[in-house]
Amino acid sequence: MVVDERRREYLRLLGVEALEPRDDGPLAPSPAPSPAAAPSPAAGLSPAAGPSAGPVAGPCAGDDWEALARRVRSCTACDLAATRTQTVFGVGDHGARWMLIGEAPGAEEDRQGLPFVGRAGQLLTSMVRATGWSRDQVFIANILKCRPPNNRDPRPEEVAHCEGYLHRQVALLRPAVILCLGRIAAQNLLKVEAPLKALRGRTHSYGPAGTPVVVTFHPAYLLRNPADKRRAWEDLRLVLRLLEEAGERAGA
Ligand code: URA
Repeated sequence: MVVDERRREYLRLLGVEALEPRDDGPLAPSPAPSPAAAPSPAAGLSPAAGPSAGPVAGPCAGDDWEALARRVRSCTACDLAATRTQTVFGVGDHGARWMLIGEAPGAEEDRQGLPFVGRAGQLLTSMVRATGWSRDQVFIANILKCRPPNNRDPRPEEVAHCEGYLHRQVALLRPAVILCLGRIAAQNLLKVEAPLKALRGRTHSYGPAGTPVVVTFHPAYLLRNPADKRRAWEDLRLVLRLLEEAGERAGA
């Protein structure tokens, strides 16, 4: 794969260029991750207990994108409806093969109605660009569609009310790969309680279609811990490998 100057620049911004072997280039497929090379249930990781484990067919099961967006906009299923400025549905290409899932909107996202538009979002955009893909070629959503006050962690009942929307987004999109951003997003999506370090470096599976899921650091964490950007790059390489296995290449 040809690596153009712009992508080199994004890699440089991520601080990963020095890591790359000279002979195969920064975007060559990564070696098979260990221990799981193929999508699998999270072996060795305990699913969280509770009735909401696993995606469920909710009232939005038949919605198209427009109906789903309308339903989310008018949602009052939990208390977050009272404190949000607006809902944050998600953004991107409805034909995207790569989906990114974060935790919940922050202050700037609540203000703009778009996911990942604050500082963490800028880093996320650079991460995507470093792979050779662009932000408008992917679809970005969150576990929660509304901002929790003071950016506190999502509560189980909020996740339970909201996850039908995300599940429908995944069903409509049918992505080849999901990249989960951070521990909270991963634990809630995969219904596991394992720490991030146990979730990274392997391929998980989501939903009835068994969509491959890769877990990486939340970009807000990476802003505070830039040394881990190198590890995040390993996760992105796993995403690229899965996309390539699915026959998907960056269009630009
Ligand atoms: N953090 C998230 O998890 N999601 C956003 O949309 C913004 C920040």
